[in-house]
Amino acid sequence: MKLLVTGGAGFIGSAVVRLAMARGHQVVNVDALTYAACLDNVAMVADSPDYAFEQVDIRDRAALDAVFAKHQPDAVMHLAAESHVDRSIDGPADFIETNVTGTFNMLEAARTYWTAQGKPDSFRFHHISTDEVFGSLPNDPSIKFTEDTPYDPRSPYSASKASSDHLVRAWHETYGLPVVLTNCSNNYGPFHFPEKLIPVIILNALAGKALPIYGDGSNIRDWLYVEDHADALLLVVEKGEVGRSYNIGGENERTNLELVKTLCAILDQARPKAAGSYADQITFVTDRPGHDARYAIDPTRIRTELGWRPSVTVEEGLEKTVAWYLANEDWWRALQSRHGVGERLGVKA
Ligand SMILES: NC(=O)c1ccc[n+]([C@@H]2O[C@H](COP(=O)([O-])OP(=O)(O)OC[C@H]3O[C@@H](n4cnc5c(N)ncnc54)[C@H](O)[C@@H]3O)[C@@H](O)[C@H]2O)c1
Repeated sequence: MKLLVTGGAGFIGSAVVRLAMARGHQVVNVDALTYAACLDNVAMVADSPDYAFEQVDIRDRAALDAVFAKHQPDAVMHLAAESHVDRSIDGPADFIETNVTGTFNMLEAARTYWTAQGKPDSFRFHHISTDEVFGSLPNDPSIKFTEDTPYDPRSPYSASKASSDHLVRAWHETYGLPVVLTNCSNNYGPFHFPEKLIPVIILNALAGKALPIYGDGSNIRDWLYVEDHADALLLVVEKGEVGRSYNIGGENERTNLELVKTLCAILDQARPKAAGSYADQITFVTDRPGHDARYAIDPTRIRTELGWRPSVTVEEGLEKTVAWYLANEDWWRALQSRHGVGERLGVKA
C-alpha cells in the first residue's frame, strides 16, 4: 500500500513509518517539523525509493491538496497533532488549530481526492487518537474504557482530540468517507521526545537531577510499547472494519510512582550509581491542574476481531527503552535545547 502518514517525524508516527517500510509499504511522510519533530527518527529509511518526505503544515489546505494529487495514496494514517497535555494548558490555541482545524483540512483534502478517484471502497482514512478522550476512571479494575464509553475530555489536549474524532465520524456518516479510528493508551519506547514522563525520568536520573512526580504519584496510566502500537495501527488500516473504532492498550496499569520506581530499578542495574539508588532522586511536585486519575483500556475488540497482541510486557519494554536511551545520547542531547524542554509547563492555570 502507499500510505500517507501525517506526523511521521514524531514519536509514534516515526515508529509507524519504520514498521510500514519494513513490511514493504510505500510511505509519504507529511510533517510540519514542529518543536516535537526529529527527522533522525526516520533517517534509516530516508534514502529508500519507497519513501518521500513533504514538509507541510496540515493547517494549509492548499498544500495538502497538492500532496494528495502528487502522491496518490491508497490510505491515510493521520497522526500529526500537538500532543503534550502540559503545553495545551499553557497554550491551547495551537491544539485547536492543528488537532481540530488541521484534521478538518485532512478530511476535506482526503474527501476531495477520494471523490476525484471515483470513491474507491478500498481507500482508508485512519485517524489515530487517544484514550484521554474518555476522561478519567475511578480506581476500580473492573471498569475500563471500551469503544462505547461516552466521551468526557477534560484537558485542552483531550478536548481537541475528541473534537477531531467527532469530525472523522461525521465525514463517514455524511460523505461516506471510508474511515477507521483508534484510541490508544500511553505509549513509551525509543525516540520518545524528552519532555514526556518516561524520558524525563531516565534523563534526569542520569544527570543526577530530581525525578519529578506530579501530586502523590497515584495517577494510573496503561502503558504500551510504541512498536506494539505501530503494529496495531498497521493491522487496523489494513483489516479494520470501515466506520469502526478500536481501543488499543497493553493492559499494563501502573501508578506513576510504581512506573518511576521500576525505571529506577532498571537503571540501578544498567548503570549503577556510585552510592544509593536512583529512587533517592524522586521528588513530589505540584500536581497538573485537572490531572485525570486513571486511564485503562479494554482492548477486547482489537484482540478478538483482528487478533492483535502486544509483543512485550511493560517490564521488557521499559528495559528496552532504558537500553535505547543509554545507547543514543546524541539523539536526546540534541533535543534538550528545544523550546520548553526541561521546564515545568502547565502550572499557570
Ligand atoms: N504519545 C502517546 O502516548 C499517544 C497515545 C495515544 C495517541 N496518541 C496520538 O498519536 C499521535 C502521535 O503522537 P506522538 O506522541 O507521536 O506525538 P509527537 O508530538 O511526538 O509528534 C507529532 C508530530 O506531528 C507533527 N505536527 C504537529 N503539528 C503539525 C501540523 N500542524 N502539521 C503537520 N505536522 C504537525 C510534529 O512535527 C510531530 O512530528 C497524536 O495524534 C496523538 O494524539 C499519542
